[in-house]
Amino acid sequence: MDLIILDSFSGETVTTMAVARVVRTIGELRAALLPHRRAGRTIGLVPTMGFLHEGHVSLLHAARAENDVVVMSLFVNPTQFGPNEDLDRYPRDEGRDLRLATEAGVDLVFAPEVAELYPDGAATAVEVGGEVTSVLDGDPGRRGPGHFRGVTTIVAKLFNIVGPDVAYFGQKDAQQAAVIKRMVRDLDFPLRVSVMPTVREEDGLAMSSRNVYLEPDDRLRAVALSRALAAAEQQALALDSLEAGLSAARIELAAAAIEPEYLEARDAETLEPVAELTGRPILIAVAARVGGARLIDNVVIEPLAGLDNHE
Ligand code: PAJ
Repeated sequence: MDLIILDSFSGETVTTMAVARVVRTIGELRAALLPHRRAGRTIGLVPTMGFLHEGHVSLLHAARAENDVVVMSLFVNPTQFGPNEDLDRYPRDEGRDLRLATEAGVDLVFAPEVAELYPDGAATAVEVGGEVTSVLDGDPGRRGPGHFRGVTTIVAKLFNIVGPDVAYFGQKDAQQAAVIKRMVRDLDFPLRVSVMPTVREEDGLAMSSRNVYLEPDDRLRAVALSRALAAAEQQALALDSLEAGLSAARIELAAAAIEPEYLEARDAETLEPVAELTGRPILIAVAARVGGARLIDNVVIEPLAGLDNHE
């Protein structure tokens, strides 16, 4: 949408500027997208819970570069928060988010109220079963499979509302991306899922809206997560041993007095456990509470180039 800036004396146009248009209802969003769809334009969707940082912005840039129309959703989805999680204190700053969305070239920001997406009587959920949702964060002793049920339900609804050609997610939430890819495959959603690399602070800490919960001391300790993952990758490849990699990571975490909730190596697609380098991409994922924040991070060990040729 163009914002036309007029000279307050003469009334003449000084400049025009594209601004992201905010829509609050499903009807408005569908109406805004209809002419684009009829004209055969491609639509990119970036789902977010707001409080944007450079990680989110990298997804917006990818969507802008690859599509005619870019939609960003901004919705703190209550169904993916457990009863003891941070729904009430989840950080919000819609004004700043809209500014960043505009700067990144977003066309439409879908920012509905909770009742718009979950009207009274909403009783349907989308659930991906199996290992992909029951391990790591999906373990019942952690966030549990209910977390992913909330994610897949809202993401399926957004796919149905927007009808994107491509939807963008971050590798930072590797399990979420794997779960969404599985849902898209299993339910035949006619779109492509694009997973973008994790954007990090200068010292390596993965960017996250939840990093605002870190007190200064804990912010310094938090860098141990990315350091541990880098050590894991390096040692695993150097010694051709996942166990050596995991040990190196545990040492880095212990040095920062961080007790991980989990630190595990799994097949990056199926999330099945792996004990050694398999020639397929392997996810090493970590979760840990650091002060007031629960942080997650991961690295994917790609098979060495040319390795398959020797098999
Ligand atoms: P949110 O945490 O706001 O993240 C929105 C998207 O940004 C996700 O795809 C996430 O993986 C990606 N992202 C977060 N930090 C990143 C980083 N440092 N680098 C690259 N990408 C990053 O994830 C959610 O919201 C929700 O679960 C959602 C998918 C919107 C469903 O409610």
